[in-house]
Amino acid sequence: MRVLVTGGMGFIGSETVLALMENGHEPILVDNLSNSKEDVLDKIEKISGKRPHFHKVDCCDYEGFRKVFEEEKNIEAVIHFAGLKAVGESTRKPIEYYTNNLLSTLVLLRLMKEYGVHNIIFSSSATVYGVPKRVPLVESDPVGGATNPYGETKVMIERILEDANKADPSLNVILLRYFNPIGAHPSGLLGEDPNGIPNNIMPYISQVASGKLKTLHVFGDDYPTPDGTGIRDYIHVLDLAEGHVAALNKIVENPGVVAYNLGTGKGTSVFELINAFEKATGVKVPFVVDPRRPGDVAANFANCDKAFHELHWKAKRNVEDACRDAYRFQTTGASK
Ligand code: WQD
Repeated sequence: MRVLVTGGMGFIGSETVLALMENGHEPILVDNLSNSKEDVLDKIEKISGKRPHFHKVDCCDYEGFRKVFEEEKNIEAVIHFAGLKAVGESTRKPIEYYTNNLLSTLVLLRLMKEYGVHNIIFSSSATVYGVPKRVPLVESDPVGGATNPYGETKVMIERILEDANKADPSLNVILLRYFNPIGAHPSGLLGEDPNGIPNNIMPYISQVASGKLKTLHVFGDDYPTPDGTGIRDYIHVLDLAEGHVAALNKIVENPGVVAYNLGTGKGTSVFELINAFEKATGVKVPFVVDPRRPGDVAANFANCDKAFHELHWKAKRNVEDACRDAYRFQTTGASK
């Protein structure tokens, strides 16, 4: 299928572009490069042997985005990654987050309607569940009450897509709720390369291990968990990418609106993650324990039975695989 991928030059977007090409699809990339670099296209070509079409466009720019739909005939589906995604930053810049994430989606939906595109796969997040009432989380658990504007934009966009489908049942929507994406492409060429000090733990650990940062700060060891540190569901980014290909195979069945958790179904604590990283790479990760980070929850992991039964998809890689791949990327592909 010809698939328009917004945010296709990003961490998860670029891995998904590779998985689409490996499965015979034709991705068309749209990205404003606000949080990615143009050389990602060279790396995609180096890994896959093919150079997909890329348009440097901001999805909020109706005229600019319309040109892509005009030029790229027969778009059959859209995978919508484009959006600002830093939790902490969103609490400092809520208007920017609501404007960018909601407007880009509204412009996209208007253009999809104008050009007769009926299939959208949306990059949602476990944050739509807010503070979990119970774990593991299932798709029927209540949505809402995200603890930050970033998470709220995901809740609102899911709602916009549901309402759009109610008004036009020919619009098929698959909501993919990611847990904690980690890891990198095994080639070491593509991975998570955040600007500045990483917010997320995996790039932070990788930069401590490579010597770019001095010490990992563990945000709290007094949670009601077995070892006192926060528990998350860390999923390898390649498994996540393959989940999007599985969703593309599903969307042609005209499913209407359906949500899937994309995780491993296994909770891993911060201390367990550190141990897994040290075991996988042989590199020690010095850390200190600091107070809890505001907004963090004790435990958050997924029940992924629905994706297994309906998408015939299951995460195949484990946390050590992701640590090994993340470290390889940090020491070869990441910006110094
Ligand atoms: C993981 C664990 C921290 C950093 C966020 C977003 C989510 C998704 C993934 C976009 C927690 C601990 C972290 C550090 C630490 N992003 N930690 N030291 O907060 O679970 O999820 O990123 O979709 O939407 O909410 O990820 O990697 O920041 O934290 O101890 O330097 O690591 O307390 O237990 P999080 P994270």
